[in-house]
Amino acid sequence: MAEKSKTATARDGNGGTVRIAAVGDLHVNEDAQASCRDLFGEVSREADILVLTGDLTNLGRPREAEILAEDLRACAIPVVAVLGNHDYESGAVEDVTNILRQAGVHLLDGQTTEIKEVGFVGVKGFVGGFGSRMLGSFGEPAIKAMVAESVSESMRLENAMRQVRTNRTLVVLHYAPIAETVAGEPLEIFPFLGSSRLAETIDRFKVSAVVHGHAHRGVYEGRTPGGAPVYNVAMHVTKPTGRPYALLEI
Ligand SMILES: [Fe+2]
Ligand SMILES: [Fe+2]
Repeated sequence: MAEKSKTATARDGNGGTVRIAAVGDLHVNEDAQASCRDLFGEVSREADILVLTGDLTNLGRPREAEILAEDLRACAIPVVAVLGNHDYESGAVEDVTNILRQAGVHLLDGQTTEIKEVGFVGVKGFVGGFGSRMLGSFGEPAIKAMVAESVSESMRLENAMRQVRTNRTLVVLHYAPIAETVAGEPLEIFPFLGSSRLAETIDRFKVSAVVHGHAHRGVYEGRTPGGAPVYNVAMHVTKPTGRPYALLEI
């Protein structure tokens, strides 16, 4: 019997397969005993590009970003990332962003970057819920502001998608675009784990795959209604690699 592949393949007819390691929710903190250095060394041997899907730091403190930047010196391949909600916690998101960009990270927040003929499109995303149960813009201004933020993230994703010039595209999110990959989390918190608005945007374009984090107790694999493969790569989620990171070939 053939061994089950540890690598997800999302080919779209292009030559020159690119191996992408993807992991989210490192939650680097100042007291961490475990450094990410060994992990970054390992993925450098396994993949061509590393993608980090947000919650890079635990509390969004500049010192945490510095620790991550120092650990990333062990990473010999290009790094693409988005921020997560935890990276906003201390109100120092500009400092965190600058520290990581100075360390060479392609930190995407509504932009695209092209590496090895693959287009990477990144936004954090936002909450709002899924399908027909999605939060609507009705009632108090605070609710409307919440929905507006969710719509805004989807529009920023759309604008970034329009900049892509490559045939292969990886969408990088923190929040989930579908409910399928958050299954396993308590039902009560599904609306805080992502938004279908992201999937609606994704399905208007041709994408090779989508990666996200945030749902630590979710499941690895799902699809948008339009058929785009979606992978929850939060480091706590069990993956075919048996490692904290996923390996995708696109
Ligand atoms: Fe997280
Ligand atoms: Fe998160």
